[in-house]
Formats: sequence, C-alpha cells, structure tokens
Amino acid sequence: MYAGRVPRPFAKALLPAAYFPLGGPVPAGDLVGREGYIRRAVARLTDGNHILIAGPRRIGKTSVMLEILRRLRRKGVHTAYVDCMGATDIRGLGERLADAVLENVSGIERSFEYAKAVAAGMRPTVKIRYEHVELALELAREKNAQRFFDGALDLPRALAAKTGKRVVVAFDEFQAAGQLGSRIFDVMRTRFQAQRAVSYAFLGSEEGILEQLFSGKGRAFYRFALPLDLADAAGHRFGIDPDDWLSYIQEKLTERKLTIGDAEVDRILDATGGHPQDTMQVCAALYYLMRDAGLRAVTAEAIGVAIEQALRELERPFALHWADLGKGKYLQQVAKRIAHGAVLYASDGSGAVPRAEVLRALAALQARGLVAHLARGRYEFVEPLFGEYVRRLDEAIVTK
Ligand SMILES: Nc1ncnc2c1ncn2[C@@H]1O[C@H](COP(=O)(O)OP(=O)(O)O)[C@@H](O)[C@H]1O
Ligand SMILES: [Mg+2]
Repeated sequence: MYAGRVPRPFAKALLPAAYFPLGGPVPAGDLVGREGYIRRAVARLTDGNHILIAGPRRIGKTSVMLEILRRLRRKGVHTAYVDCMGATDIRGLGERLADAVLENVSGIERSFEYAKAVAAGMRPTVKIRYEHVELALELAREKNAQRFFDGALDLPRALAAKTGKRVVVAFDEFQAAGQLGSRIFDVMRTRFQAQRAVSYAFLGSEEGILEQLFSGKGRAFYRFALPLDLADAAGHRFGIDPDDWLSYIQEKLTERKLTIGDAEVDRILDATGGHPQDTMQVCAALYYLMRDAGLRAVTAEAIGVAIEQALRELERPFALHWADLGKGKYLQQVAKRIAHGAVLYASDGSGAVPRAEVLRALAALQARGLVAHLARGRYEFVEPLFGEYVRRLDEAIVTK
C-alpha cells in the first residue's frame, strides 16, 4: 500500500507554531539561545566528526538537532533523522533508516514502501521514479532480519557514494535501540566506522546508559563520538544565556502588544531555573492568562498564577521523571529530602538509609542532571519546578 504524498518532516516545523510552542521540537524562530551550539555542531558534522548530544528530557535536544539538520540541508548535505524510540525490532529500525535516507532522493516520506513495491515488480509511478528507490531495491528483497538491518545500515554510505555528497545521520533516543538486540550496538559501530563520507549524531535521554556506551572502555561506542554538552554549554544553566531568554520573551510579547519588564523576566527565570521547557510552559501560561484577563503589562501576581498553571500542566512529565527515579535504589527518598531541604543522612520514617547509599543516590541524581551540588552536604534541584513538584508530593497524599 502506498503512503501517498506526505509532507517532509522538516517542512512541519515551518508551519505557524503555537505561541510559545511546547512539548515537541520547536521551529527555528523559537529556539532560544542555541546559536553557538548549533554552529559548532554543524561545523563538526560537516568536517566528518560524529557527535553525542546526551542530556535530560525536555531540554531541547531534538529541537536543536532538527535545526542542525535543516542547516546542513541548506548547505547541500544529505541528512537522515531516525527516532529509535518506538521501533519494536531491528527490521523496524532499519526501515526507519531506509525511509529517512531515501527521502533525500525521492523528496517524500516512507519511500521504502515504494521500494518494496517496485522490488515486487510493480511499475514506478509518476511520483516515485526508479532512481528514487534504486538504492534500496536489493534491501527490499531481503528476508533475513539481521541481513536486512546490516543492509539498511549501509544505505547512508551508498547514498554518499551515489551522490558524491556528505550524509549526516541523527539517531534520536539512541539508547532505546539497545532493547532491540544484545549485539545491536556492536553491529552498528562496525558498520559506521567503515563509512568515510557519513557523520553520525547520537541523541539520548538516559544519560547513564549513553555515557556508559560512549565512554566505558570496551563498550561498543567507546570514544566513537565527540560529546557536545547541551545542558552546560558556555557555563549557563541548561546552556542558555539568560539575556537570550530576556530578548526572546520581550519580543514575543511585544508582537502581541504586551509588555514585560526585565525584573519580571528574572522572576520567571528564577522560578524555572532557565529550564527550556519549564520556561516556555510558564511563558505560554502567562500569555494566555494575560489575554484572557485583558491585561497589558505583566505583573508579579500574573507570573505567580502562570507558575501554578505551568506546574499543573507539567504534572505528566514530572510523574514520568518521578517513576523513573523509583527504579533506582533510594533515589526517591533522597530526592524528597533534597526537595524539603532536610538533613540528607538522617533516617526517614521507614528506616535509616545508610550513608553510603545516600551518597550513591546523590551521585546518581547528579549523573542524571537532576540535582546539583551547592556546598558540603547541600544539594538542589537543577529544575526548580520539578523540585516543587517533589515537595508537593506528600501534601497531595495528605489531601487525598
Ligand atoms: N532552546 C529552546 N528555546 C525555547 N524552548 C525550548 C528550547 N529547547 C527546548 N524548548 C522547549 O522544550 C520543549 C521540548 O523540546 P525537545 O526538543 O523535544 O527536548 P528534548 O528532545 O530534549 O526532550 C519544546 O517544545 C520547547 O517548549
Ligand atoms: Mg527529544
């Protein structure tokens, strides 16, 4: 069955976006404070380096990557974006890669479906010409899953060889590929390192897993990619200069004839710690609140209400973070103590957490980018609104 004409994934981002877009990749115009990072990444990938973008969820990894790919395409580079999350087997992942690679030639998504049809003897249509899918015809006939996956991994190289252009492939949520087979990372590395004209970008959220994979001696991707730290770029929290937030927020509100002073922007950034999605969430809540109330100038009170609204809207992602912590030993207990500013090494109601375990939990929370060390024995949440969520967890139990 043919997928029909569907817009290219990069075109979607050019449609008018929501005001203060939330929850997915943002268009270039709403990507605050990442210019330097994007330029560095583009230069590296153009030069043939592989890069690693690891970091907690909702800090803008995907947004940044899609903009990097848009710029590379403008420079005449071929690109492919593959989300590893949700692929259920190696054939599925291989098909995603094949689609993304073929799109450079065919101009449409899901071209691999056409390749399969043509391989099965159907005549190419007006939309899809033989040379659009030629690259993948042999692959489309492959029945063996392992050989299919191998063949798909070779497509970026084949595209580069055929067109004489560099190819940049981005694997988002790369750690998720590990669930598709025990040797999958070894297979991928073996393929990738033999490909001269292809640069790879790896993105992922579960920092522990990715870090191990790329920096653990003897691990499949040991020293394969250059880590480009997004969360800590240029020494700013989450790598974004507060001045960039200031000008973005002021300009964005001015567009709609609303005003906000520097002190009010600071108030927002204090509450969110400059966390990208949290900040956008508060701004969006604030904007709609102002509009509904017919207010022109942002007040401290309005910001307070917007923060409460944002906290409610962020409950779902925060609940996911929280559930994640439940998988680690003592992480939730220690996180609660940090949230309440409690003594870290004392016993809690259910029995003492041994000091060594507390330290281990603190190290794990820091490795995940959730918690920062302030001073001896003092820690804080990097994402203040998440800290607030954790602080309120117990209250919620009491009122239920
Ligand atoms: N640089 C940024 N400027 C403005 N908003 C951002 C930025 N980075 C992330 N966001 C906000 O965070 C949300 C999630 O971004 P996304 O790229 O999906 O993050 P990740 O891939 O790290 O989970 C976006 O929808 C947007 O609201
Ligand atoms: Mg993402």
